[in-house]
Amino acid sequence: MAERTISDVLTKPDAALEMTLRPSLFSDFTGQSKVKERLEIAVTAAKQRGEALDHILLSGPPGLGKTTLAYIIAKAMNTSLKATSGPTVEKAADLAGLLTNLEEGDVLFIDEIHRLQKTIEEYLYPAMEDFKLDIIIDQGPNARSVRLNLPRFTLIGATTRSGLLTAPLLTRFAVRERLDYYVAEDLQKIVVRSARLLAVEMEPAGAMEIARRSRGTPRIANNLLRRVRDYAQVKGDGRVTAGVADKALAMLEIDQNGLDEMDKRILEAIIVKFGGGPVGIGSLAVAVGEEPDTIEEVYEPYLIMEGYLKRTAQGRVATELSYKKLALRPAAGHQPSLL
Ligand SMILES: Nc1ncnc2c1ncn2[C@@H]1O[C@H](COP(=O)(O)OP(=O)(O)OP(=O)(O)O)[C@@H](O)[C@H]1O
Ligand SMILES: [Mg+2]
Repeated sequence: MAERTISDVLTKPDAALEMTLRPSLFSDFTGQSKVKERLEIAVTAAKQRGEALDHILLSGPPGLGKTTLAYIIAKAMNTSLKATSGPTVEKAADLAGLLTNLEEGDVLFIDEIHRLQKTIEEYLYPAMEDFKLDIIIDQGPNARSVRLNLPRFTLIGATTRSGLLTAPLLTRFAVRERLDYYVAEDLQKIVVRSARLLAVEMEPAGAMEIARRSRGTPRIANNLLRRVRDYAQVKGDGRVTAGVADKALAMLEIDQNGLDEMDKRILEAIIVKFGGGPVGIGSLAVAVGEEPDTIEEVYEPYLIMEGYLKRTAQGRVATELSYKKLALRPAAGHQPSLL
């Protein structure tokens, strides 16, 4: 696919930049106030009792701060974080290696935890619950099971697809938090902070322009900030005003509302190929060439929040706003849903 989609922007983050801009304290983490408050209380309570923190599952679309929060939590607990990801843990021995290397109170962070293999997942249950690991050593007639005692650790799982987690795994997380898209005001604060860290001269209105067009996502906001900075430096005097930000974003073909190619492809398919809907997720996925789960968990929530799309019992329906956005007219006799 030639077009740039949010997946491209989101799955290939610039590691060095993310490190510079990633807040390391709860107090620097903007927005998500309810989630933040609950996590802070859990951390404080565990510290007061001198216990390891309960296992935590963080879910939500890409780039909203799951990994960031995991590091913030570990730091607040004064423990170290060991990171891995679902697809990386290929064998039970890999998991055993990770678990036996933990120290009391450490955080084991498993990114993309929905992609853990079933067999590995089963080793995780007793480890999470009783801090024990039963491993089979040797093969054939010599095979025997050995029980290892593990330190009391905290598992923090992150997932963009909480729907794909099995019930047994889900229920072993005492704390489950879902991150949601950021409102523009919060993203504006994030852009202002990042601009300060990158020594970019930023006007509040310039930050707001970037915030409005970042699809509710801090990672996109930070990426756009960098592109706008380049533009301001080359085409202007380096200062980011609302006008400069608007010109830079227009040049990058970033939509006024921050919608990306895949967002538009989804709306267009519903309208053009399925007469405005309702259409089932399976057919929609085939029409746009994307995984149904990805549509449901990465794209749809934003489109629904912004009022472009409605989820009904019969399927997805394009709202009047979608028709306006794509400058398309409803077919004769079809009355698009207002919201
Ligand atoms: N609340 C926030 N305040 C400030 N910056 C944030 C916030 N949330 C995220 N960021 C910034 O956005 C970037 C992306 O966040 P992060 O990597 O934590 O997202 P994620 O949810 O783990 O995404 P993925 O699902 O792709 O792994 C971070 O580097 C950080 O700079
Ligand atoms: Mg992450």
